[in-house]
Amino acid sequence: MEIFKPFDIDYTYDPACFEPKSLIIRRTLKQIYDIFIEPDKAMTVLKKENPVIVEVYMAPIPESAGHLMVLMTVIYPGKIVDEYYMTKGHIHDSDAAPEVYITLKGNGKLLMQTPDDNCFTGEMKRGKINYIPSGWAHRAVNTGKEELVFLGIYPAEGKRDYSFIGKGGKNFLKVVIEKNGLPEVIDNPLSMR
Ligand SMILES: [Fe+2]
Repeated sequence: MEIFKPFDIDYTYDPACFEPKSLIIRRTLKQIYDIFIEPDKAMTVLKKENPVIVEVYMAPIPESAGHLMVLMTVIYPGKIVDEYYMTKGHIHDSDAAPEVYITLKGNGKLLMQTPDDNCFTGEMKRGKINYIPSGWAHRAVNTGKEELVFLGIYPAEGKRDYSFIGKGGKNFLKVVIEKNGLPEVIDNPLSMR
């Protein structure tokens, strides 16, 4: 068996300092406009610009059993109407792949949900580690005015399954909107149909 050599990862709250990285996943509004509860309003924005919503920086670790993935995610500040920018959201396709999120900068909410519709909302800010048990889909939402930056660490056998959103027409049952200047977690109006 070929030995995988240990290495160190440099990081700060500034994602540019996250080194080494093997891959950067960049999601623009055009790619994920349909995750918002008012995709038609997102399309109106797209006529003028295509902002980057999320960037994910991945450390060069093999995505295979026995390894632990380490990645840094940045969610830029912004909203579509009253709904904050957020990650696409996914579930890990293994029942042995919990994850921890460690917030380095900014403020947010972590929407979590099981396939049988249990919901939980975590707080994301410096000083918090969010524990995401196996079997919980998760979506991070930037409710602040600056970038939300966090580390995610999970066993590599739990590949990220983004089809969770569309499974049986099921979406995240909660969404986070700004109301009177403050974030509020509400029922997803699209899931009520
Ligand atoms: Fe994850």
